[in-house]
Amino acid sequence: MSLACWEKLAVVIVAALGLRVVIRVSVVTWKKFIAPALGRGVNIVTQGKWAVVTGATDGLGKAFAQNLASKGLDIVLVSRSLPKLENVAKEIKNAYGVETRIVEADLTEGQPVYAKIAKTIEELEVGVLINNAGASYDHPELFTNVSEETIARILQLNVAGTTGVARAILPGMMERRKGVIINISSTAAAIPSPYLSVYAASKAFVDKLSADLAAEAAPRGVTIQCILPGPVATKMSKIKKATWMAPTPEKFVEACLKTTGIESRTTGYPPHCLIIGIVNGLRCVCERGAVWLVARTMLNIRGRALRKKTDHKDTDETMMTEVPPRQEIILE
Ligand SMILES: NC(=O)c1ccc[n+]([C@@H]2O[C@H](COP(=O)([O-])OP(=O)(O)OC[C@H]3O[C@@H](n4cnc5c(N)ncnc54)[C@H](OP(=O)(O)O)[C@@H]3O)[C@@H](O)[C@H]2O)c1
Repeated sequence: MSLACWEKLAVVIVAALGLRVVIRVSVVTWKKFIAPALGRGVNIVTQGKWAVVTGATDGLGKAFAQNLASKGLDIVLVSRSLPKLENVAKEIKNAYGVETRIVEADLTEGQPVYAKIAKTIEELEVGVLINNAGASYDHPELFTNVSEETIARILQLNVAGTTGVARAILPGMMERRKGVIINISSTAAAIPSPYLSVYAASKAFVDKLSADLAAEAAPRGVTIQCILPGPVATKMSKIKKATWMAPTPEKFVEACLKTTGIESRTTGYPPHCLIIGIVNGLRCVCERGAVWLVARTMLNIRGRALRKKTDHKDTDETMMTEVPPRQEIILE
């Protein structure tokens, strides 16, 4: 049976599309599951004797510091609170027998603190930077209700701080032609994020900066990776009980470090790919529906957070002078 010309063309197109799908699925399976399981990423301990971790006293930063110390790296811990730094440094020294240094620095303060970090690491062979310190909203909120101070803090820390610390550490790595920088962004950067607009935009900056720096640094021997985590059970997320979707920082970091050198941009923890995949898949079908869904979820979280605050008569630092009325989801 001979095929008509258009039938032959259809077979070729279907075969080409099928091949493309098979290749794509194979690459994703390799990068997400097989290569990390086989340990095919960068061997982080060969990059240099020291690792610098910003925001190292809690959550993800502390888990990164512990994990890297457990691999034998000496650790420079950076955060604002001296007592917390001293405690974590002591914990790490006792548990893993590595050297530690601490840098008390508020990374929202700009150039003087980046210079302080640069001075501390002057003589050290820094092979890894975990550019992790970040700030977010207290809870999802309408942009116009977020205080100017909160907006400034988020931009100074997530945008300027992340850039400034990378600028302080990358030259030494490039000189030695080895090193790894892991910049922490967020899934919020990769999906619509109404009611977290400034945070999400600041993390989109980290994402873009990482991609372009990665291209500049790779020929100079340095790997730059951007991690876009979903929810992790830390103080920032206020998730107290870890679940499969919101793991402990330790579990997250364990998975994340297996991806370094394999994926330059990743959620770091495979289940978090589902968040980006589902929301962006929905966007392909119906952009407005996806935005509406995220907005509704954010407003539910906001409502719960405000009710909790009212119940507990929480007088801690808040972004607003008063609790505004319930927000409606308004899509253009
Ligand atoms: N947890 C999540 O669900 C989640 C999801 C996506 C992305 N992320 C990102 O992951 C990173 C870490 O978040 P996390 O949840 O681990 O936060 P966390 O538990 O609140 O810890 C934040 C760390 O950063 C330090 N820090 C805060 N402000 C600082 C400043 N101005 N200068 C220097 N250090 C500062 C804190 O120490 P001091 O208070 O002592 O300064 C602390 O060590 C952030 O970039 C965040 O945006 C988190």
